[in-house]
Amino acid sequence: MCPRHLLTRMKTSVAIYPGSFDPVTNGHLDLIARGEKMFDRLIVAVLKNMEKEPLFSVPERVEMLREVTKEFHSVEVDVFQGLLVDYARKRDAAVILRGIRAVSDYEYELQMALMNRKLEPRLETVFMLPGETYSYLSAKLVREIAQLGGPLTGLVPPLVEQKIRAKLAVASS
Ligand code: PNS
Repeated sequence: MCPRHLLTRMKTSVAIYPGSFDPVTNGHLDLIARGEKMFDRLIVAVLKNMEKEPLFSVPERVEMLREVTKEFHSVEVDVFQGLLVDYARKRDAAVILRGIRAVSDYEYELQMALMNRKLEPRLETVFMLPGETYSYLSAKLVREIAQLGGPLTGLVPPLVEQKIRAKLAVASS
């Protein structure tokens, strides 16, 4: 039998979960739910970059993220630009949280984690695995399926599906 004190949730420090989130998917949400259990505070940080053709603007992405994470009281949604390590320093974060869905993610994630460590050795990258159901899911595929009229059920939260449909309806009118 597991001693009772080992069953209590152990939480440590502030973590940042950075990404593009264009749009937030159920895979992202799964990782947020896992991260929220692990850290005192989890900052979901949307990169403000000059991406060629995003589906959603940064404020739209932030609004959707805030809505779908509102039940998580220790989760905050923010925007950052510039180097992630600078933002982490500014927010006093000790951890960067990233999801690894499959081996194919590993090379890019490893490169980023090691570069971030080179830039800021005090910052740790923690990798978590999303639920297996989401191992094939990406925001890029969601955008493609939506643009080609395919079903999005189970891939994104209902609110996000509505926003995608509305956006594409406006774009095609
Ligand atoms: O969801 P994504 O697009 O895979 O997220 C990538 C992200 C935002 C984590 C990465 O591009 C990033 O951290 N950009 C900020 C600029 C930076 O710090 N670049 C050096 C990374 S080693």
